[in-house]
Amino acid sequence: MQAPHRPDAKTPTPAASTQSFSDAERAAVYRAIHERRDMRHFSGGSVSDEVLLRLLRAAHHGPSVGFMQPWRFIRVTSGALREGIHALVEQERGRTAEALGERKNDFMKLKVQGVLDAAEVLVVALPPGREAHIFGRRTLPEMDIASTACAIQNLWLAARAENLGMGWVSLFDPAALAQLLQMPAGAHPLAVLCLGPVTEFYARPMLEQEKWATRAPLQQMLMDNVWAQESRLEAESDAAAPPDQLPRD
Ligand SMILES: Cc1cc2nc3c(=O)[nH]c(=O)nc-3n(C[C@H](O)[C@H](O)[C@H](O)COP(=O)(O)O)c2cc1C
Repeated sequence: MQAPHRPDAKTPTPAASTQSFSDAERAAVYRAIHERRDMRHFSGGSVSDEVLLRLLRAAHHGPSVGFMQPWRFIRVTSGALREGIHALVEQERGRTAEALGERKNDFMKLKVQGVLDAAEVLVVALPPGREAHIFGRRTLPEMDIASTACAIQNLWLAARAENLGMGWVSLFDPAALAQLLQMPAGAHPLAVLCLGPVTEFYARPMLEQEKWATRAPLQQMLMDNVWAQESRLEAESDAAAPPDQLPRD
């Protein structure tokens, strides 16, 4: 049986080994996490096949429920298809604005995509036949989506480390996008990813810069044991983190 968790027990320091991250490597991982941004302004250019494959390999090394690997990537190289995707996003942008009611005008001012400007456009979709995968999905079938989101996040972080911007666009009618890209019945598109060089990365989330929303304090998201019990962890105190690991937003 596992020993009960003792909050006061000191965590043993892992012995230095080839499996350990150096301080610099650890700082680089946190830097990629904190400086990753959802980008919608691209400066054209290109992404070499070598780098693109490195990024796709990073995505393909994401975790997945029952090792299902439910991600499929369509690289859109056709200008006509890009225009088609752009049109679908614009259509949904209008519908979303209508659904937002009083925030309609604020929403319409936001740039929500870079489909025409980014060096690369990748569409990420779930494949058909997912119902055969039961491991970890019997009660939570949406774990296929969760797994694919993990793959996309790997790609996003790796792109930041390659100094490339990425934007995740989900403003589209999935049935219309599936039809445009001739997906088989049962396939389900989840993301249009815009990827490529950018002039600079936003210092803070663009939606924060545009005063659409702000990041909630971590403390508000934390509980101990049961939902209503506030956590004793003091998330607002960053004293224990070295300065180069502090979030910049
Ligand atoms: C599942 C998912 C879907 C998203 N869809 C869109 C989108 O359709 N359009 C858009 O402008 N941003 C989209 N985003 C990006 C978010 O707006 C962005 O992550 C958020 O504002 C925080 O900014 P940051 O990623 O720079 O930290 C999406 C992000 C996620 C995780």
